[in-house]
Amino acid sequence: GGTAVRRDRFSGGPARAFLSSLAADEAIFAADLAVDRAHVVMLAEQGIVDDAVAGEVLAALDDVEAAGHGALPDGEDVHEAIETAVIDRVGPDGGRMHTARSRNDEVATCIRYRLREDLLAVAEATLTLREALLDVASEHAETVMPGYTHLQPAQPTTVGHYLLSYAGGVGRDTERLLGAYDRTNRSPLGGAAFAGTPFDVDRERTADLLGFDGLVHNSMDAASARDFLAEAATACATLSTTLSGLAEDLILFSNKGFLELSDDYSSTSSIMPQKKNPDTLELTRGVAGDAIGEATGTLSLLKGLPRAYNRDLQRAHASVFEIADDVREATEVAAGAVATADWAVEDLAAAAGDGFSTATGVADLLATGGMPFRTAHEIVAAAAEGIDDADDPATAAAKVDEAAREITGEPLSAYVSREEVEAALDPTESVASRDSTGGPAPDAVAEALAA
Ligand code: ARG
Repeated sequence: GGTAVRRDRFSGGPARAFLSSLAADEAIFAADLAVDRAHVVMLAEQGIVDDAVAGEVLAALDDVEAAGHGALPDGEDVHEAIETAVIDRVGPDGGRMHTARSRNDEVATCIRYRLREDLLAVAEATLTLREALLDVASEHAETVMPGYTHLQPAQPTTVGHYLLSYAGGVGRDTERLLGAYDRTNRSPLGGAAFAGTPFDVDRERTADLLGFDGLVHNSMDAASARDFLAEAATACATLSTTLSGLAEDLILFSNKGFLELSDDYSSTSSIMPQKKNPDTLELTRGVAGDAIGEATGTLSLLKGLPRAYNRDLQRAHASVFEIADDVREATEVAAGAVATADWAVEDLAAAAGDGFSTATGVADLLATGGMPFRTAHEIVAAAAEGIDDADDPATAAAKVDEAAREITGEPLSAYVSREEVEAALDPTESVASRDSTGGPAPDAVAEALAA
């Protein structure tokens, strides 16, 4: 009776739709049923409700589940609607389900229960992507390509080395997601509204039944904390930022003819029949904008909220579930695009020395021969002005020699042989010489792949 009176008083009015999260709560419908079941089992085990009532409530929950979210009665949210549906089936005893809890600890538990699945799905997608990056890196451990800084040819590297750079970033993204998972996977249930409960609840038991790794211990922290949402959104945004860089690179490489995307990961134009566009990668790049917005939005919503529960929190989680799903999909698409793209090995090799990208190697060689590196840098910089892509190694070496004579009064041969200089000008030799730990030389790449 009391419930009905109170509900009637707050059940109408023009703000009803604004207050209700029932539609968005579809995302936590399954979670809420799981939380209700665990809570009722614990209440029965603790002797807080009769076994018979608990059994009726559990049967009603099965029935509510079978009917689906769409069949729920009207309510301010899924928690209220499911409770009403249980009471409709069981009678007033169904109202015992909500003993020793509040919607505040209930919703916090539901969000964590749902989000941990999303985080695992994103983390799993990062493993798929990492596997694709490693597979192609091993296939192209010796494929020489131009390496860029400031979008200009900088030093030759290999496709294997390039892809391993993203495998490293994606690996850290996996760790961030799993870190967020660890802190999400704690149970707030039993914290009640924020202030605990006089009933002899067993919080460890519900945590265990729901597969949580432990408790959010303090009951006020349990009901209020949403930092795990910010952390999840940020981990997704950071991953998405990694993906956007990879996508941008692959778009640029396909534009230069260094790489051809599989048709499965391309799109065409409705008017220009010759077009093959890298749309999947552009969308991947685009998702990063949404993910960054979500991270910013979540932090903005949480900023300055007083303890303990405030209704603002109702708006915090649904969009995090959505962005996790978008980022997961973008990660899977990036993995597919990487796994199926065709690298133009010959065009890459032909372009690898463009823009005198072996200049650093020549300076390194002179320094190895005993010249101070700064002097070597000056000589090669002076020669670079006169060297162009059409020069053969002998011509380029002669120009470096000329610069050396002008600047030091000594020929190059005082430091290194002409053959060594010509070798340093060869992109493949240049790559092979840079075998420092984590470097691009095929040996170093093979070691990284093995690790
Ligand atoms: N649906 C709400 C939320 O998502 C939970 C309800 C708690 N409501 C309240 N007035 N304390 O946060």
